[in-house]
Amino acid sequence: MSFTTFRKIDNQTIRPLQTGMDLLRNPHLNKGTAFTRAERRRLGLSGLLPQRTSTQDEQVARVRENYLRKDNDLEKYIFLIALQDRNETLFYRLLNDFIEELMPIIYTPVVGQACQQFGHIYRRSRGIFLSRHHRGHMHQVLQNWPEKDIRVIVVTDGERILGLGDLGANGMGIPVGKLSLYTACAGVHPLHCLPITLDVGTNNESLHHDPLYLGLPEPRLRGADYDALVEEFVAASQEVFPRALIQFEDFGNLNAFRLLRQYRDRVLSFNDDIQGTASVALAGLYSAERLIGKSIREHRILFFGAGEAAIGIGDLVVSAMTEDGLDHSEALGRCWFMDSKGLVVKSRSNLQEHKLPYAHDHEPVDQLLDAVRSLRPTVLIGVSGQAAQFTQEVIEEMGKHNPRPLIFALSNPTSKAECTAEQAYRWSQGQAVFASGSPFDPVEFEGSRFVPGQANNAYIFPGIGLGAIAVGARRITDEMFSAAAKTLAGLVSADDLAHGCLFPPLGKIRAVSAQIAVAVAEVAYRQDLTSLARPQDLLAFMQAQQYTATYQQYV
Ligand code: NAI
Repeated sequence: MSFTTFRKIDNQTIRPLQTGMDLLRNPHLNKGTAFTRAERRRLGLSGLLPQRTSTQDEQVARVRENYLRKDNDLEKYIFLIALQDRNETLFYRLLNDFIEELMPIIYTPVVGQACQQFGHIYRRSRGIFLSRHHRGHMHQVLQNWPEKDIRVIVVTDGERILGLGDLGANGMGIPVGKLSLYTACAGVHPLHCLPITLDVGTNNESLHHDPLYLGLPEPRLRGADYDALVEEFVAASQEVFPRALIQFEDFGNLNAFRLLRQYRDRVLSFNDDIQGTASVALAGLYSAERLIGKSIREHRILFFGAGEAAIGIGDLVVSAMTEDGLDHSEALGRCWFMDSKGLVVKSRSNLQEHKLPYAHDHEPVDQLLDAVRSLRPTVLIGVSGQAAQFTQEVIEEMGKHNPRPLIFALSNPTSKAECTAEQAYRWSQGQAVFASGSPFDPVEFEGSRFVPGQANNAYIFPGIGLGAIAVGARRITDEMFSAAAKTLAGLVSADDLAHGCLFPPLGKIRAVSAQIAVAVAEVAYRQDLTSLARPQDLLAFMQAQQYTATYQQYV
């Protein structure tokens, strides 16, 4: 490790470069009341802390008590970010201990609310904001970041934040949250992580009129100016942080597909909304195979929504179907899409490029219910950002031609879900195999307990990142996402499946991420995408890379 905040003395001991109050104010190094007496003497902390030393367990109890005192989710989010700003190690220890409870706060759904309120709840800056004012000198701007060994950058331009639309520079909550998950879920060291927001304006008029909005209150950059800004950002990142993976996050679909095509073969990068979502949804289909005995090639899938998530899933499913024996055109024919203008069919004009392979011969259909009646899909996947579109009639229709219909209501946050878990189970008489984008509580229905799985990208992207950076992969490939999906599905236990849950418990996420990292590394070696020597035991190697949220000894 080559962090600039401390000097390594030996494997257990590091020496902070700061002392006294500066040390207490450095979140990476601060241990608060857990500084030992010897450390306090040696590091100029005597008298700056209450006399009694706390263990980390006692600190966890204290912050948890304070956390539980907050009476709404946004306040809980603010509390957690403040802890991250004060004592990062304790923040990650708390996250690790209570990941199932805290993930919905630091990520979807509550992070959506935090983004909407970003300028109003803003306390302390985190990450880098780049705008047209930095054109021509982004290299120097990136050098302002204090850490030099950055391995993961999550970047957004704020145009499509979850299902909430254009939130401009308020979108910074997303890279911040995703990078917290890189550390909490996969153990990527926090000092290796850098959140970046490209402030290219916003077309959200209400933000232009909000005096507390912190981004540029001007219309979005488009066209050549936008492309040049993104290009300068990518080039400068590569120069300043040559080992960094770039994860594109929550870009509008006007740019997301283009940028993915432009950079995927040039730099170590991926788009989580397209590729990460695809991988977690494919994992859900693989898990369902064990539950309902239908292989991937036997499905007919209707996507409600034809944007980044939908097309990403479609493309990966098509490659999984071809791997399973279908030819490419047959596989394409098994995936149908609806967008805001109805069913995607050949006769429609002006279809966006990413929809063209899925524009099949069929008469136009406006209503989802009619599409379900006509196409008789085995799987219905909601990725439209439109709430409550999977009505009782739609779910009942799915049940008429499927003994076990697969219903994935993936739109986030919770308020945008196409249906709730309870509706899916009730309207299908307990037959639906359900997964959602945001978390839902278990449901009791006619004496059975159903545990809805959350198709959370957090199962996938942290492990992809860990695997890629650990073996110095040069590119992120589709095969890595397929391998991640298979690995994830393989980690779902019979007990999880017995309750209808298609994903492992989030409590096992670190172990899951290490396994996914291994699968990704295997692909990197197979595809000759790394020049690092292959470790004998890849799993032990990945585990050894994982950051643990315990305090280091300082003296
Ligand atoms: P997007 O903006 O690229 O696509 C949205 C699509 O929905 C567009 O094709 C649009 O035409 C369509 N649509 C809008 N209104 C519609 C209507 N009334 N009827 C039919 N289609 C309609 O957005 P993206 O990235 O695909 O995300 C969509 C949703 O999926 C969001 O809510 C997002 O939070 C969620 N999502 C969930 C993930 C997960 O569960 N793991 C991961 C990524 C996204």
